[in-house]
Amino acid sequence: MKIMHVDASAKRERSNSRALSRYFLERLREEGLDIEVDYLDVTVDTPPHVNEAFAIATYTPSHERTPAMKATLASSDALCKRLLDADALVFAMPMYNWSMPSAFKAFIDSITRTGLTYLFAEDGRIEGQLARQKVLFITSRGADLRVGTPYSSMDALTPALKAAFGFLGVADPAFVDAQPLQFSDEAARLEALERARTELIAVAANWAGSAKSQPASASEPNNDVMALSQE
Ligand SMILES: Cc1cc2nc3c(=O)[nH]c(=O)nc-3n(C[C@H](O)[C@H](O)[C@H](O)COP(=O)(O)O)c2cc1C
Repeated sequence: MKIMHVDASAKRERSNSRALSRYFLERLREEGLDIEVDYLDVTVDTPPHVNEAFAIATYTPSHERTPAMKATLASSDALCKRLLDADALVFAMPMYNWSMPSAFKAFIDSITRTGLTYLFAEDGRIEGQLARQKVLFITSRGADLRVGTPYSSMDALTPALKAAFGFLGVADPAFVDAQPLQFSDEAARLEALERARTELIAVAANWAGSAKSQPASASEPNNDVMALSQE
């Protein structure tokens, strides 16, 4: 199973989301899955922010693009290919100011591409191209935003991730949200991390179960889509 693993915390050794994403991959290996990991740290290799050249090139039909436009889109093309080639996507990030880290938003802006990660069907419908991939979001939050808590209505992260990836065909992503962490006492923090690890074990077992019951051909990359990108 090819997994694209993306971390987005500004913290390194002290990061909870990074630790939890590593923990998840270890659980997958423990489940006996043969995994190949394509790793991206968006705080190190941050996709460029959208600029004018990108905004114009991305909506120019591929056969009309100039060499300069193609060059502008090259790193985004490559990132899209990495996602499309993966069988599963693991995205780990902290909540920053109720939403996602800006480096992860730059990543989303880079991978949301007409003709690559989404296509227009003949009837005008959007066809997201990441429908094949299993997707897990691991988020870490300082406060407790679970349903029923005073901050629950402030969660702009979960809906933003669901919308951005739903558009790309991800219908039923798994979410493991570790909360409350930074803004809680030691006991609540430890309990939140333990709850997250328990949930990650369940997701790993679920992925392992479906991987073992899937025919090998199901993990072939969608070459038609990549052919489109090379027009
Ligand atoms: C700049 C910044 C903004 C943050 N904003 C929020 C927030 O809006 N809500 C929240 O619950 N926690 C917030 N936090 C706390 C982090 O989400 C929390 O510490 C999380 O565990 C960090 O994950 P990490 O350990 O992977 O870096 C913020 C932290 C930082 C550094």
